[in-house]
Amino acid sequence: MSKSFPVLLQPSGMRFDAPAGTSVLLAAQAAGIKLPSSCRNGTCRACMCLMLDGSVVYGIEWPGLSRDEKEDGWILPCVAQPASALEIQVPLAVPLEPAAPAPRPLTGARR
Ligand code: FES
Repeated sequence: MSKSFPVLLQPSGMRFDAPAGTSVLLAAQAAGIKLPSSCRNGTCRACMCLMLDGSVVYGIEWPGLSRDEKEDGWILPCVAQPASALEIQVPLAVPLEPAAPAPRPLTGARR
């Protein structure tokens, strides 16, 4: 079993577990959470977000982020793999499936 790390999304408070060796983006998707993305290979920066806490690793030095941006905490979730528990700021994160409709109120109740 590979190790996994808890990921907390802000400001929504959604959480999921991200296995080591898997991108944060794919781990979120597997958990039913959609994060912004486009190219998914670390070049377009559509997924770029701020890491508030934790650390990530990349398979290669990713060209999509400057050294300054990395030092400021910006990550590319499509290619970043968790190296610890993470807290990241992703205002556009949404559940993949729309929430099930609320059960219909009971009808026919006596007044
Ligand atoms: S989706 Fe393009 S850089 Fe992450």
